Amino acid sequence: MEKTIQLNTGHEMPRLGLGLYKTAVGNELSSAFRSAVTMGYRLFDTASSYKNEDGLGGAIASCPVPREELFITTKIWNNAQRIGSIESAFSRSLDRLGLEYVDLYLIHWPVPGCYLDTWMALEDIFRSGRARAIGVSNFDEYQLDEILEHGSIVPAVNQIEYHPLFVQDGIRRFCQQNGIVVQAAAPLARGAYLEKDVLAAIAEKYNRSPAQVGLRWILQKGCCVIPKSVRDDRLLENSQIFDFELDENEMTAIEALNENYRSSSIPEDLLK
Ligand SMILES: NC(=O)c1ccc[n+]([C@@H]2O[C@H](COP(=O)([O-])OP(=O)(O)OC[C@H]3O[C@@H](n4cnc5c(N)ncnc54)[C@H](OP(=O)(O)O)[C@@H]3O)[C@@H](O)[C@H]2O)c1
Repeated sequence: MEKTIQLNTGHEMPRLGLGLYKTAVGNELSSAFRSAVTMGYRLFDTASSYKNEDGLGGAIASCPVPREELFITTKIWNNAQRIGSIESAFSRSLDRLGLEYVDLYLIHWPVPGCYLDTWMALEDIFRSGRARAIGVSNFDEYQLDEILEHGSIVPAVNQIEYHPLFVQDGIRRFCQQNGIVVQAAAPLARGAYLEKDVLAAIAEKYNRSPAQVGLRWILQKGCCVIPKSVRDDRLLENSQIFDFELDENEMTAIEALNENYRSSSIPEDLLK
């Protein structure tokens, strides 16, 4: 399997990236970034709501790898969508990152009554060249349908929670049929499936860890992964998922673990 996947913009996106949710600005972020880059990570996933875009920007500024070889994703938060200040929220993200462009800009959550207007504003940002690709996150089929119907750009990515305990195959298939890459958020379910016997047995067979088997399973579903870690041993472990292959029976056995378990919560303000 190639280590990158082509987006509908023609750009290549790494299938593996480092998620930065709950990674603190300062030594935690800069040291995880440095280690990850040395291990071959090129994609870094942040969001304005993670409050670490400035820390990521600092790490990028002192990174020996050229900017164009990195793939930086950030996301627009819900309140900016509500007040309709998409362009200024985006400019502030770019400033904090210290970048002239991001590789991918996502609508973090489909705020009811707002996300279509937000999408139109993202289309303008894309046309300006300051986001090489635009996409969505946590979108269901009906919300994507609306964008496909009214927008003029097909989202490049839908970042959704996807792992062996939450096999959202309806939306995964819909995205893949429409040329939208699925990027799995919380691909380790924040640790929730790592003790499962099925994974332990398969991991033993391949001399891998349950985390590696879970991440590999997601890759073989045609999705990308952005596991988070701030530990060097785990960063390395999570990156070594391209040199073994699960067979069909193993894929099915892992899929059977599904319990529609969501490890990341829906923000309260979306439910109001
Ligand atoms: N768009 C969205 O709404 C959304 C929602 C959730 C997540 N995300 C994105 O997806 C990324 C990943 O999701 P996540 O951070 O929620 O959860 P995750 O990647 O599923 O799990 C991270 C947790 O697992 C631990 N861990 C990492 N590697 C491990 C390993 N090999 N073995 C055992 N434990 C391990 C980490 O601890 P240590 O750091 O101590 O290693 C951390 O506590 C986020 O950082 C964010 O970028 C997006």
